Amino acid sequence: MKGIILAGGTGTRLKELTKVTNKHLLPIYDKPMIYFPINTLKDAGIESVMIVTDKRRTSDFLLLLGSGEDYKLRFTYALQESAKGIADALNKARDFANKDDITVILGDNILFGNTDFLKEPLKKSCRIFLKEVKDPERFGIAYIKDNKIEKIIEKPKRSMSNLAIIGLYQYKNNVFDIIEKINPSKRNELEITDVNKYFLNNDEMEYKIIDNDWIDAGTIESLFIASEMERNLSHHA
Ligand code: DAU
Repeated sequence: MKGIILAGGTGTRLKELTKVTNKHLLPIYDKPMIYFPINTLKDAGIESVMIVTDKRRTSDFLLLLGSGEDYKLRFTYALQESAKGIADALNKARDFANKDDITVILGDNILFGNTDFLKEPLKKSCRIFLKEVKDPERFGIAYIKDNKIEKIIEKPKRSMSNLAIIGLYQYKNNVFDIIEKINPSKRNELEITDVNKYFLNNDEMEYKIIDNDWIDAGTIESLFIASEMERNLSHHA
């Protein structure tokens, strides 16, 4: 299993904070944000990690993270020319993944607690992870009936389900062929939800509802809350 962290994008929701730096280098309490997804992959026993970043900031990531030696990991870097979507960023990892299964995490997704569930071998081509939230309109949402996912919708305006699809995905290598098949969305991005829909429609998707604390730190408010959560946890450790 190889790991991929997607750390491109524009970070516009963080306004002034991302004018001169990449969102994933901003602090969550006492560490740069990117340390969290790195640790999630490391805890899952992954040793080789690709970091996909935007081309303006690649050198900052190199300065911070280097070869990975300090983290007892191997880092490989790829750059995304422009923010054309999460699936476009993932596509940059095609050669790196080679024939292996992959665990993909969005650079702004912070997971607390045990993530041993990532070590379970994949039964299907795609595994997604769900977490109950209060604000489903901010996320990709899954609708479950009789223990099966019926449908998934990206940021529904109103939702009968509050099960968010978190920014953590496991795929077999055919994901790269599926990315080639999808079209850009209305906002001109290759959406990871469209890739996942393909797997769902072909009965190639499994899911797990997690009870870990989780936060997408991509807004001013959630960035602040993530720091508070980390502070509370590190003070109790
Ligand atoms: O956090 C979970 C949510 O993440 C999911 O529930 C949604 O289904 C998924 O679409 C995504 O939604 P966001 O609106 O939070 O995505 P955002 O555009 O903020 O991008 C999240 C991360 O993906 C970002 O931190 C870096 C990476 N990214 C994003 C884009 C658009 C890239 O590397 N390149 C890109 O072009």
